[in-house]
Amino acid sequence: MDDWDRVAAMIVLGIETSCDETAAAIVRDDREILANVVYSQLDEHRAFGGVVPEIAARAHLDILDGVVREVLAQAELAPTDLHGIAATGGPGLIGGVIVGTMTAKALAAAAEIPYIAVNHLEAHALTARLTDDVAFPYLLLLVSGGHCQLLSVEGVGHYTMLGATVDDAVGEAFDKCAKMMGLGFPGGPAIEAAATKGDARRFDFPRPMKGRLGCDFSFSGLKTAIRQAILKSDGESLSDTDAADIAASFQGAVAETIADRCANAIQQFSEDHPDGNTLVVAGGVAANTVLREKLASLCALTGFRFIAPPHALCTDNGAMIAWAGIERLRIGLTDDMDFAPRPRWPLEELRA
Ligand code: KG4
Ligand code: ZN
Repeated sequence: MDDWDRVAAMIVLGIETSCDETAAAIVRDDREILANVVYSQLDEHRAFGGVVPEIAARAHLDILDGVVREVLAQAELAPTDLHGIAATGGPGLIGGVIVGTMTAKALAAAAEIPYIAVNHLEAHALTARLTDDVAFPYLLLLVSGGHCQLLSVEGVGHYTMLGATVDDAVGEAFDKCAKMMGLGFPGGPAIEAAATKGDARRFDFPRPMKGRLGCDFSFSGLKTAIRQAILKSDGESLSDTDAADIAASFQGAVAETIADRCANAIQQFSEDHPDGNTLVVAGGVAANTVLREKLASLCALTGFRFIAPPHALCTDNGAMIAWAGIERLRIGLTDDMDFAPRPRWPLEELRA
């Protein structure tokens, strides 16, 4: 990059506070991540076995200023060197979203630069364009603690829902099953670690929705089957072998179910978009290796390209918010200071 390009480059600060990660990052529009800091509030919430909204909001308030100062120091930039400040404006736990939004608005106002309210789901959806050369349209599987959906991504702000969970999100199923098994929090990585020593064929857990038309998901029946398997096992607490086998069998059932739903989605997406041939996976559960392998094989079979961002950019982070800010800023989409944080904000509402 020559000096002229360096001057012309767009640099955006992104702030993420919608759940239990206090995160900030600085990203340049040539896809360079200049600084990226994620503070996970695991210690604050561990004793409760899940995220406590009130504790999360207070922790964001305590930590965010320091995290923002740290990324500016790492990138050796001042707020006035930036071209915009983006923050998650929803959906998420409202206390945290308010803390991030107010911080971003104050910094943007002081530096006299644009403020961008980013939809957290859109940030997950666009991450693949930060990490890889991915053009619109593409098929997106969004799997996180709060969301489980298949979407066609037609452009920034243009999403069409193909299917979604009718009950629990898949990350929620991982978290609840890990809790029942006494594996700790967050459940996804704990189940994945336990499963490495387990036999995925020992328990024949249900594959909810498998074989049905459409692209919807369901995980509550699987959760019930796990509870029954735990109750049937011997002793007061699960043996390591039983825990490993249940974890591996659960993970296998989840991956198989999701791959079945994705196969239908690939078919539907291909009919609607003959020019698209990429499946992108995003959200915290996209960090799961068994799921990635299953989706990679499905793509190999169907002639689709499979894109999964690196683990650290699948779980919540500031870089994805900064990148979504860049994507919006470069087509002139910014927000006013009266933007009101939104606990619920379906992706399809961005179109308006
Ligand atoms: O996207 P994310 O960081 O936060 C939300 O927006 O929800 O996703 C967090 C979810 C949690 O439910 C966590 O258990 C799950 O992602 N997760 C995993 C893995 N790593 C995180 N699930 C399965 N396997 C993993 N390796
Ligand atoms: Zn997320």
